Amino acid sequence: MTQIAQSRLPISLTVNGTQHAFEIEPWVTLLDLLRERLALTGTKKGCDQGQCGACTVLVDGQRINSCLSLAVSRDGAEVTTIEGLAQEGELHPLQAAFIERDAFQCGYCTPGQICSAAGLLAEGHTHTRAEIREHMSGNLCRCGAYTNIADAIEDVLQPRLAMREAAE
Ligand code: FES
Ligand code: FES
Repeated sequence: MTQIAQSRLPISLTVNGTQHAFEIEPWVTLLDLLRERLALTGTKKGCDQGQCGACTVLVDGQRINSCLSLAVSRDGAEVTTIEGLAQEGELHPLQAAFIERDAFQCGYCTPGQICSAAGLLAEGHTHTRAEIREHMSGNLCRCGAYTNIADAIEDVLQPRLAMREAAE
């Protein structure tokens, strides 16, 4: 057995609902695992340093920068990427709202923006447009589509907030 083979570690991940087993080197990031081993290239590599948010995915329901996360540290986790947000052929409401609001230009940041927005909705502590901007500030868009991105997220957030208030 070579030294490299010896240094591989077994992990399992459930990605977009499907369980996978890997043998990986301890330095492989979750981002590279998703893109290079599973060919899930919807998740983008921007800065590769935790500064742009292009690589945002959901791990156990929480948004993280996958470029900063070693895959071995996520053994047993559930990962959702942009490819896993649509359900049974139906776009996720955020995906539909981004299209409706024309919330992208080049589109490179869009998967990270949408995954981050999905995390924001799940966190439940965003109520206003100012808070959307604040809580999405880790996701950069070089094209400057921020107004439309905030519009799209607001379109999905506000009806949910109204429903929650009505139920209380
Ligand atoms: S690629 Fe991960 S934050 Fe930029
Ligand atoms: S749409 Fe181009 S970087 Fe965001």
